[in-house]
Amino acid sequence: MTNAWPNGRAFAFYDRSEVAISQLGEQLQALGARLEAALGDVRDGAALDDVRVRFLGRSGEITALRRAIGNLPPAERPEAGKIINAAVTGWEAIVASKADELQRRALDTQLEIAIDVTFPAPPARSGSLHPLRRALEDACGYFERRGFAVVLGPEIETEYYNFDALNIPADHPAREGLDSFYFGDGRLLRTHTSPMQIRTMQAHPPPVAIVTSGKAYRRDGIDARHSPMFHQIEGLLVAPGIHMGHLKGMLTGMCRELFGPNQAVRFRPSFFPFTEPSAEVDTTCPGCAGTGSAAGDPGCKTCGGSGWIELGGSGMVHPGVLRESGYDPDVVSGFAFGVGIERIAMVQHDLDDIRVLFENDPKVLAQLA
Ligand code: DAH
Repeated sequence: MTNAWPNGRAFAFYDRSEVAISQLGEQLQALGARLEAALGDVRDGAALDDVRVRFLGRSGEITALRRAIGNLPPAERPEAGKIINAAVTGWEAIVASKADELQRRALDTQLEIAIDVTFPAPPARSGSLHPLRRALEDACGYFERRGFAVVLGPEIETEYYNFDALNIPADHPAREGLDSFYFGDGRLLRTHTSPMQIRTMQAHPPPVAIVTSGKAYRRDGIDARHSPMFHQIEGLLVAPGIHMGHLKGMLTGMCRELFGPNQAVRFRPSFFPFTEPSAEVDTTCPGCAGTGSAAGDPGCKTCGGSGWIELGGSGMVHPGVLRESGYDPDVVSGFAFGVGIERIAMVQHDLDDIRVLFENDPKVLAQLA
């Protein structure tokens, strides 16, 4: 028997007399058809729940049908129960796939709202070379274009290459454990890039012209000018007739190329065990343009008021060092230098604190790019 809800939808209920197992298939088919029609109208989860309850719920249509089984002869009841259960399992699957579909559609709608393909894209952010890498490449590039080979050496060195072969005696203060990082087996983190002078000369007969760059390590505290890890570029030119004028010319040329044509370069007498004579290399302070005072402050913060920034050390290769490497100091002579890459970056970017080079704040790096 079919009836109608007040909203006009058809529904069916069964009174016991209406059920016979011969009609069960037909009745289930009709119920299934109405369930599918009802699902076709469903647009959201609440409507789906209504349909589920109306057809498959405890007081829904299927329960009415189950109850009617009681009217059948006892022998037919188990078979009828099986038929109904099979139909219900199929319908539950249909309801579940409708739930999935609703969920997918809700997500699609959300995405459609969220993605406006006409919206202008944010500008692409491009990276840049780190200022230390740039300084290193600028300095090495200057020498490469003048015929110097670029070589690389180990950061873990032996005491022989780091000290002995460079004429740094066993009682030299630089060899103290307080200044260097030792491994305790005759090796240490190199304290400068100068060991590559020896490695190069021992591997190649003269003439040699090389630059090498990389990290060096010392037990320094961290402040505006110092760091326990820093970078150096080391140069070495050995050939017959090389003299101090070649050294001055090359380093002055490097400073003018890297920092500008008006850059002054000063060579101050100094001492290094592996050079004789030795000189420290200074260049015009970018903070005060060499005047020592910046923005009315008589003590320029970048150079401490001297007007100069110290770049590193240099000199004529010591005859003992040449001999140790198998070179004859009566036939060849050479110059060498070791310059701080952090110092080069300070001058290039007018920095008064090298710590910004290690902190890697993206905003600062973008400014220095
Ligand atoms: N190795 C020295 C240092 O780190 C710097 C240096 C001085 C390098 C004189 C040289 C040189 O090649 O000739 O303090």
